[in-house]
Amino acid sequence: MAYQTLDLRPLAGAMGAEVNGVDLTANLSNQTFDEIHQAFLDHKAIFFHDQDLSPRQQIAFGRRFGPLCIYPFVEGLPEAPETFEIVKAEDDVRNFGGAWHSDMSFTEKPPLGTMLYALEMPDAGGDTLFANTAAAYAALSDGMKQLLDGLIGVYSAALARGGGRAANFKSHTSMAARNMDKVEMGAEHPIVRTHPETGEKALFLGKGHTVRFKDMSVAESLPLIDYLADHCVRPEFTCRFNWRVGSLALWDNRCTLHFAVDDYPGQRRRVRRLTIEGDRPF
Ligand code: SIN
Repeated sequence: MAYQTLDLRPLAGAMGAEVNGVDLTANLSNQTFDEIHQAFLDHKAIFFHDQDLSPRQQIAFGRRFGPLCIYPFVEGLPEAPETFEIVKAEDDVRNFGGAWHSDMSFTEKPPLGTMLYALEMPDAGGDTLFANTAAAYAALSDGMKQLLDGLIGVYSAALARGGGRAANFKSHTSMAARNMDKVEMGAEHPIVRTHPETGEKALFLGKGHTVRFKDMSVAESLPLIDYLADHCVRPEFTCRFNWRVGSLALWDNRCTLHFAVDDYPGQRRRVRRLTIEGDRPF
């Protein structure tokens, strides 16, 4: 589409665009919001710099896309429980989100999108990588597409292959974990989902959360899950976002994966996250 009010700069060939010239604290006109929404669909992840957003202002912007949903495993901010902070402090030994994933794919209705706002950043590093899983699906052979047609994935929050969610949180000492007795929560979704707004087909899986295919054993499933997960994140399907304090990212969880790079030992990084309710994948 031809954008009338937005100045967009694509970040990479596959996906991602920076949006310039918008103040997200302003009362956005319907035209500007519609263009932001279209840019979100066109580029799958959009990025704004130099924003000064309180939790309530971030929530107000998030709600323009739909109702918000709550992340079950971290305490929300007392003044804005729809949001929580992802913190890696100087002495934390690992970060949050440091594996390719789509947020909350283990829920019945995974969020349509995630919005992250940068509060503190290391001097260098702490970037987030994104992968376009619709482009990854399109690049598969017809034979593989036929094989995947109708295949259902079983998704779990337990992070069994990643050392276990509760153990992971012990090293996020700066984050207040909750519901650690519910880490076995899970859901079943098609491995190839259809985007409800664009109609595009996209792979929907990751090594952390997709534990097996329905009606198959873990051992039978993992080789293909791993092949597809590695295929999704081939460099030509990705972009990389370099944060500044005041940057805001919004990505489409229905057709992307993301990965928070943990390359800033001894430094602090803090971002504020919210998620926007999605549909049951089909
Ligand atoms: C996340 O997976 O939500 C965290 C991404 C990041 O901190 O860059």
